[in-house]
Amino acid sequence: MSTLKAVRGTRDLLPPETALWNRVEATARAIFARYGFGEIRTPIFEDTQLFVRGVGEETDVVSKEMYTWEDRARAQSEKAQSLTLRPENTAGVVRAYIEHKLGDTGMLQKLFYIGPQFRRERPQRGRYRQFWQIGAEVLGPVPSGAESALRDAEVLEMLATLLDELGIPRASEANGNTGWKLWLNSVGSSTDRPRYINALKSALEPLKGALCVDCQRRAETNPLRVLDCKVPEDQETINNLPKIADFLDEASTEHFAQVRSVLDACGVPYVIDPRLVRGLDYYTRTTFEFTSASGLGTQNALLGGGRYDGLSEMLGGPKAPGIGFAIGEDRLILTLQALAESSGNALNSDKLDAYIAPMGIAQNAAALALAKELRAAGLSVEVGEGSFRLKKSFEFADTLARRIVILGEDEVSTGILTVKTFATGEQTKVPHADLAAALARS
Ligand code: HAM
Repeated sequence: MSTLKAVRGTRDLLPPETALWNRVEATARAIFARYGFGEIRTPIFEDTQLFVRGVGEETDVVSKEMYTWEDRARAQSEKAQSLTLRPENTAGVVRAYIEHKLGDTGMLQKLFYIGPQFRRERPQRGRYRQFWQIGAEVLGPVPSGAESALRDAEVLEMLATLLDELGIPRASEANGNTGWKLWLNSVGSSTDRPRYINALKSALEPLKGALCVDCQRRAETNPLRVLDCKVPEDQETINNLPKIADFLDEASTEHFAQVRSVLDACGVPYVIDPRLVRGLDYYTRTTFEFTSASGLGTQNALLGGGRYDGLSEMLGGPKAPGIGFAIGEDRLILTLQALAESSGNALNSDKLDAYIAPMGIAQNAAALALAKELRAAGLSVEVGEGSFRLKKSFEFADTLARRIVILGEDEVSTGILTVKTFATGEQTKVPHADLAAALARS
């Protein structure tokens, strides 16, 4: 019989790697709490229309990459419905904001999420069909200050803090620019963008024959996507195309200037990238991406985000300007692993406090009782069982724990235990009453 495997583009995350995922998520949760964010968990599948209307019918994500199916009615009272596995979480969060009338509180909503997303992309390193995002959204009615450039800068400063705390260095000459880099742009308001797209279309008309086939098509269907082209021969032409900065109205120009000045004041470095227009239709004004050259190859966008001042209205809700981001957690993990490898620091060095080794089956009960007692005292403990040979127990315990506690007949009867510390090779006798304290020592 053929064996079954995880579906192409999906993968199992196993220990010890999952310890790193948990550490990343714990760091993110701690930072979200410090910045006043609360957690939101939206369903993994939604009405297909949410993404068609929110993310945009013409985007690659919606037109090519969604997992969509017709969900059959189970009863006469139900209608068949087109459902889609969420390819991203911003549309779901804004739908929940509208559905639960969060805007009626008048307060700014700061929401974060951690969870899987699904896109039928061509799998490669850092690009999967099920991948994880750690994301956040800040939105609310206009009087809550949701439109303020300070909110954009706060989100970006929080991201810089998160990457710093995770130990990902900022790009510098010293690290050969392998650290993180923030690329920033403004795509203007919903009225600026169509003016720019028209100008781009006109500028591309006489030039497109010289561009790659993909760009020739994009010039017709979605001229903004020409700016994402990576074909080396096209770059000079594309760099000379009109820039969106020249099409921003006064309010958008001022907003972008304020974002930059707050970032300067908080010491968050950034590079202006006039070509950063992003692949989802809801963006207005500030757009950004953080890249990392460590461990990611061509999929070097660690995270992306921006402002979406019209999304709530596009989904039939009240005016609720907002800004947010999503980190590709898989890519963050790849970056951390690559950094650990290049610095020679082990990532998964967290060993248990103790391994308890009963010397015979007769000591099994005492071993489990001792493990229970030590675990209740807050120690991390693994327990062997009495059919193990001593040498094998030692080798096994060494890979798992910092110390081994030997439990033979003598130890059980006297209550004096033999403890060996692997790092030093030191072996000592410890009275039962002192054991927890002795094992807690580093
Ligand atoms: P996005 O740029 O489509 O934005 O995705 C954000 C991040 O998710 C990317 O930078 C990348 O790290 C990761 N990512 C995307 N696709 C894949 C994949 N197939 N495999 C692995 N990682 C992937 C959004 O999703 C927006 N919702 C972000 C946002 C929030 N904008 C405003 N608020």
